Amino acid sequence: MNIQENKSLKHYNTFGINVVAKQFVAVDSVYKLQQLLKLNKDVFLISGGSNMLLTKDIDKLVVHINIKGISIDKEDDNFVYLTVNAGENWNDFVLWCVSQNYGGLENLSLIPGNVGTCPIQNIGAYGVEVKDTITKVEAIDINSGKFVEFSNTECNFGYRNSIFKNKVKSKYVITAVCFRLTKNNHKLNTSYGAIEKELNSKGIFNATLKNISDAVIAIRKSKLPDPNKIGNSGSFFKNPVISTHTFLELQKKYPSIPSYTVSRTEIKIPAGWLIEQAGFKGKRFGDCGVHNKQALVLVNYGNATGEQIYQLAQKIQDTILAKFGISLEIEVNVIV
Ligand code: EPU
Repeated sequence: MNIQENKSLKHYNTFGINVVAKQFVAVDSVYKLQQLLKLNKDVFLISGGSNMLLTKDIDKLVVHINIKGISIDKEDDNFVYLTVNAGENWNDFVLWCVSQNYGGLENLSLIPGNVGTCPIQNIGAYGVEVKDTITKVEAIDINSGKFVEFSNTECNFGYRNSIFKNKVKSKYVITAVCFRLTKNNHKLNTSYGAIEKELNSKGIFNATLKNISDAVIAIRKSKLPDPNKIGNSGSFFKNPVISTHTFLELQKKYPSIPSYTVSRTEIKIPAGWLIEQAGFKGKRFGDCGVHNKQALVLVNYGNATGEQIYQLAQKIQDTILAKFGISLEIEVNVIV
């Protein structure tokens, strides 16, 4: 195995933060991963690097999960069952599914990152969450080196949440994710306002998977910065859930406040709206800032440090708490 010393991680995280790994190795098979973990268990894992903010050099062995491959495990008239290795690029996989007419992931087009990390934060967009298509997650226990499987229920999925962010954080390496996708009678989800508008504007009323994927790609391109051009990690914060009582009080003061009902007693507020109201949208502070088309996204214009972005995030959190009395929770994995 080719272990490199003092390797820059700039090209391994979508924020484009230039920190250095003391040691770095890419693994392309489960076997090699198991061999490596026998020698060193104090590792730092990096896959697509699309949901992390690195604020300092990593004084450990950084293991880049680069295990590729997609296999069809079984299929019947209605469903196909796939096992997809962790190092597959997420969007390439989604586009391949769309081209095969496998339904379920089309709303999740163009999300950055790799397949192996999709269950960790239960990626979601435009009315769909990946948890609805995952049957199980395959992983290696870092301590024992043993192969384990987590059923969908065991993953304990929630809004941008799973067992991998909580109870078993940093205890396993996800090596593959298994999906069940539809082959016909696709459950299309076009209800999210922006998709419907995009499809209608094109005169599409009986959408195909490809139509939906194209619409999502067009919407994301119009709102979200391309990490290959401007470093970012998608939504930096979660949309906060507040009590209906707090919401009604806020609504008196801000009649235009957008909201989604979560339950009889809870309401979700778009954090992007709060951040925009607080005057941060499009603001630049040195080399970091808040994206001008979606205030939920923090960006690195070139040479920002992780610490600078983290400080900006904390400034936003303090301002939102003072102005609205709402605590914003960071969604991205901040490595401090
Ligand atoms: N809004 C503003 N100003 C902004 C941004 C948003 O006022 O700068 C308000 C608008 O009222 C808008 C509403 O927020 O109608 C919702 O905005 P958007 O549709 O862009 O969605 P979001 O709630 O801001 C969430 C996800 C995104 C996902 C979109 C679409 C979270 C934390 N973020 O954002 O996910 O793409 O919905 O489904 O739930 C990600 O996780 O990295 C991500 C990009």
